[in-house]
Amino acid sequence: MEVTSVEKQSLEKLFAGEILAVDTSLRQYFPETESFPSVGMEQLNRSINYSLLSGGKRFRPVLALLVAETLGASPEKVLPVAAAIEFIHTYSLIHDDLPAMDNDDLRRGRPTNHVVYGEATALLAGDALLTEAFGVVARAYKKQPEVAVALVELLASAAGFWGMVGGQALDIEPVGSLRTAELMRKIHELKTGALIRVSCEAAAVACEAGVAERSAMRLFGENLGLAFQLADDLLDYDPKAPEKTSYVNQAGVEATRLYLQRVTELALVSVEGFGERANKLRQLVWFNLERVDLQ
Ligand code: IPE
Ligand code: IPE
Ligand code: MG
Ligand code: MG
Ligand code: MG
Repeated sequence: MEVTSVEKQSLEKLFAGEILAVDTSLRQYFPETESFPSVGMEQLNRSINYSLLSGGKRFRPVLALLVAETLGASPEKVLPVAAAIEFIHTYSLIHDDLPAMDNDDLRRGRPTNHVVYGEATALLAGDALLTEAFGVVARAYKKQPEVAVALVELLASAAGFWGMVGGQALDIEPVGSLRTAELMRKIHELKTGALIRVSCEAAAVACEAGVAERSAMRLFGENLGLAFQLADDLLDYDPKAPEKTSYVNQAGVEATRLYLQRVTELALVSVEGFGERANKLRQLVWFNLERVDLQ
């Protein structure tokens, strides 16, 4: 999906401080100034930054920062895990665009990673980002070993076989006919939902939240994740080139919009208990509705 400038502007306006904090943090990990032992590694480093620092909305790391704010914790507590999640998200997009998967030439209005750096380097850029994500978490939280282990476990589940990668496998499965609504929900839950859910739950863990707060954040993330993918499907919908796993093809535009409204309400209900402290999380939920003119 391409990021429209309207979409970026409104998110940038709402969360300028959070986006700046995320971007500053992300820029420190693969500095271009470093001297590399080979041209290949230099190209790999460029290729990583090309996708990591190329105008993503930062929806997931911003979400993690807003969870910290809601819980009354400092952003420093969640910035490393937020960066790790953005690494994993970026890797998933680089691989998703490859010829063997969606074969897309454009992302965020620019040529995709493999178009610029070649397929082999794009593959490696994804590999490096996924691996380094776990390195960042291990190093940043090593003084709180229980937090570190819990975060590694959460990230692995959300990104791996039973999470995003599993969702991608379901998504590319050849199908002769339309999928059931239940299967579609599962695909969305895994492919996109898992990383959004974990942005909330991992942030709660990094802030050492109690059980009730952690499960409220998990539930919030689950519903927001679904809402995010439904909005993405509505935005991507093109009746002339229907995507086989788009909820819109399954249920139609109107039903998808109604479903989006319902899961949005469920997300809002799950943070009711936080009162005004959750106002910025609510704004993020509204931003997602606004993307499809639903607010
Ligand atoms: C991508 O889903 C999901 C992941 C990379 C995990 P899509 O293939 O629908 O996303 P876009 O439309 O290319 O952004
Ligand atoms: C796009 O995700 C792919 C999906 C999982 C739907 P985003 O819409 O968050 O992508 P960027 O990072 O802002 O480009
Ligand atoms: Mg899409
Ligand atoms: Mg795809
Ligand atoms: Mg794709």
